[in-house]
Amino acid sequence: MLASKRILLIIGGGIAAYKSLDLIRRLKGLGAEVTPVLTRAAEEFVTPLSVAALAGAPVHRDLFDLTTEAEMGHIQLSRSADLIVVAPATADLMAKMAQGHANDLASTLLLATDTPVLIAPAMNVRMWEHPATQRNIAQLKSDGIRFVGPDAGEMACGEFGAGRMAEVPDILMAAETYFEAGVLQGKRIIVTSGPTHEPIDPVRYIANRSSGAQGTAIAAALAALGAEVVFVTGPADVPPPPHVEVVRVETAAQMKEAVESALPADAAVFAAAVADWRVASASASKIKKKDGALPVLEFSENPDILAGVSQMAQGRPKLVVGFAAETDDVVAHATAKRERKGCDWIVANDVRPETGIMGGSENAVVLISGDGAESWPRMGKGAVAEKLAARIAEALVQ
Ligand code: CTP
Repeated sequence: MLASKRILLIIGGGIAAYKSLDLIRRLKGLGAEVTPVLTRAAEEFVTPLSVAALAGAPVHRDLFDLTTEAEMGHIQLSRSADLIVVAPATADLMAKMAQGHANDLASTLLLATDTPVLIAPAMNVRMWEHPATQRNIAQLKSDGIRFVGPDAGEMACGEFGAGRMAEVPDILMAAETYFEAGVLQGKRIIVTSGPTHEPIDPVRYIANRSSGAQGTAIAAALAALGAEVVFVTGPADVPPPPHVEVVRVETAAQMKEAVESALPADAAVFAAAVADWRVASASASKIKKKDGALPVLEFSENPDILAGVSQMAQGRPKLVVGFAAETDDVVAHATAKRERKGCDWIVANDVRPETGIMGGSENAVVLISGDGAESWPRMGKGAVAEKLAARIAEALVQ
């Protein structure tokens, strides 16, 4: 299962770092490719030379390393793996991750990545139980970070309790489970994401505030479960996830065409914030100012892609999921939208500016289905995506 998988292994500075040498050896034994990263503190516990020798690859240590940066920038390094494993994940490294710090190579990679991250925490029991660490754990879980361990038991410091790094076989099993989780293997799923840009003229356009973060997270979560994902994205702020087929579009009309050519599919998730209107006749040349005379824009309605696919007479995906961005009466409006468009589920969210959801990193959604409305607690967009992907897997694989 781990054969030819690319693992970026970040080794934090804790006494458990010695176990990471065995982890590298076992990963290599299973055929994985290991790219090791050492924090400064980790170098106090294991030497770069032993890590490099076991990994059979150079060790990355420095954020500002000219040679490394010339060969492979740290952003690319963070994204070129199939899985990032942090072992040991120290209290400090977890705090940096939870806060989004990027002041050394390890924390920068963890902030810049869109690859799934598995962490094996290791620290003294008091540090583990401290409210600050517990807050960080909750934050990391809601950001979609996977955990393995810690175990309880006697620690190197002589105390007893939770905080001991998971044993190497458990870390390997957690990594394997991640790659095994192919419940959606063989299922083709279309995901739309991001805003659309509707041109006014060659330089101006009408758009909305969607960042594409939620759609991107959903596509990543579905791909992580083994689905073949066609990711149709408007011009989003966030880069598309790895392991999906990316189709880039600008306008609603192009998005519709891309979705139609991606059919047939087992499911379709419409997370894009499609512009409802376009400028009826966009100018082929830049509209110039004319002595105070204001241009008048006439609009025409864009095709409703979600409704079109939901109401297909033949070849409709088994599961069609729409989104509803509402500012008031969220459940009532979203329930009516589900009926009107004919989709199976609506993921409704409250996009009043004070919620900080549109363009933010968290989401509080209500899932509307034929069975009624189910409110999910506010969580990271990654966690919403994983929960939704698990639901989709349940619905498609029975
Ligand atoms: N959608 C679509 N094509 C459109 C407009 C919307 O596929 N032309 C999809 C969106 O991707 C989303 C859902 O429809 O899944 C809801 O979009 P929304 O804009 O919130 O709903 P509207 O139908 O535009 O209703 P209203 O503007 O009244 O809120």
